Amino acid sequence: MTLLALNETQKEIQQLARSFAQRELVALAGERDRESRFDRSMVTQMAELGFFGMLVPERFDGLGLDAQSYLLALEEIAVADASAAVLLSVHNSLPTQMILNFGTVEQQQEFLPPMARGEQLGAFALSEPEAGSDAGSLRCQAVRDGDDWVLTGTKAWVSHGSEAGVILCMARTDHSDDRRGSKGISTFILTPDLPGFHLGKKESKMGLRASPTLQINLDGCRVPGSRLLGAEGKGFVYALGSLDHGRLGIASQAIGIARAALEAAVRYAGERKQFGRNIAEFQAIQFKMSDMATRITAARTLLHAAAAAKERGENITRFSSMAKLFATETAMWVTTQAVQIFGGYGYVTDYPVERYFRDAKVTEIYEGTSEIQRIVIARETLAAAAAADGTLSD
Ligand code: CAA
Repeated sequence: MTLLALNETQKEIQQLARSFAQRELVALAGERDRESRFDRSMVTQMAELGFFGMLVPERFDGLGLDAQSYLLALEEIAVADASAAVLLSVHNSLPTQMILNFGTVEQQQEFLPPMARGEQLGAFALSEPEAGSDAGSLRCQAVRDGDDWVLTGTKAWVSHGSEAGVILCMARTDHSDDRRGSKGISTFILTPDLPGFHLGKKESKMGLRASPTLQINLDGCRVPGSRLLGAEGKGFVYALGSLDHGRLGIASQAIGIARAALEAAVRYAGERKQFGRNIAEFQAIQFKMSDMATRITAARTLLHAAAAAKERGENITRFSSMAKLFATETAMWVTTQAVQIFGGYGYVTDYPVERYFRDAKVTEIYEGTSEIQRIVIARETLAAAAAADGTLSD
């Protein structure tokens, strides 16, 4: 049963993703996490189902799904393996969408079909060691040299950077002093075969350990002029606009993690006996489960309302940030409650809830911290109020 009014296609995709995730991903998710192992066979399996081209039109070998179908599938994958979910979320929401929205016909024809088929994974390189929340202060330089661009700098926190065949990289193309901020940034389509492209440090992470996160070092990386995406100087606007969509994906991932924790807690509370009764019979446990379930349903409802607004072509910056903020803080809170319900068994690796807890944390950090989401929501709310004489009726 679901509160969402889903159409037949959406139900089918949800069911397809659920049965695949439960059959193929659940059993190995813990082992992949312990070994910090990115599993290529998982990529092949998800590619066969078309999951790397969920939002790509059929003419480019994609499934051409709507945003809600995509988010439903992501939730199911995240319930089973949050590392697999971030791979799908970043690939589908960021690089693929950027090429679809801003690429030339030639760029779309060259990159989208292999990306949609899962033959080339897409990554997103905006952050740098010194430019995280303040992404507009990035320092990676792109200098023209004949028909080429030469890129120099270090990109950081690139999800599955070591596995990607296509990396959308933001770099500064305007070097005049009055262009230090977010203006004068452009987007380039990088491939790992370019001279001067090097994989850097692999991060050792608290969670999402089966998803490799890397630095990328660009050491005079020579990029053909044909790899500039869209208009020169518009790269930051493209990146932030794409993050509006990316944040919906992270919200879905967070909801999946939270749901996995709730489902595990419900099962455990129905079996675990203390004081002569299943702990599910105690009101202290029941109230926790009530709040967990309510927050998850509220997060999913907000997310899918935002996705429906996106499908209608509306500006969703405010609602995307709200959905991401609420869903990710829900995931952290719900996984914390789940560990508490499990007690000592929640603190050890015999059960998966400690992994859910570790995986949830990063959703409050990447693709914009909770603090950045609050800044975006405040700005957008003030603007909406000013535009409607103080009325905020949505
Ligand atoms: N959509 C489209 N354009 C947007 C936009 C949006 N949502 N938000 C802002 N813009 C435009 C503005 O209109 C402005 O355009 P003009 O220059 O033409 O006027 C331009 O972008 C700059 O906007 P701001 O002045 O608002 O920029 P700012 O420097 O004040 O930054 C910010 C705003 C919200 C703090 C932004 O920097 C931000 O979101 N920071 C967080 C970055 C982030 O999410 N990083 C995650 C990286 S990905 C990752 O996590 C790794 C991974 O692989 C998962």
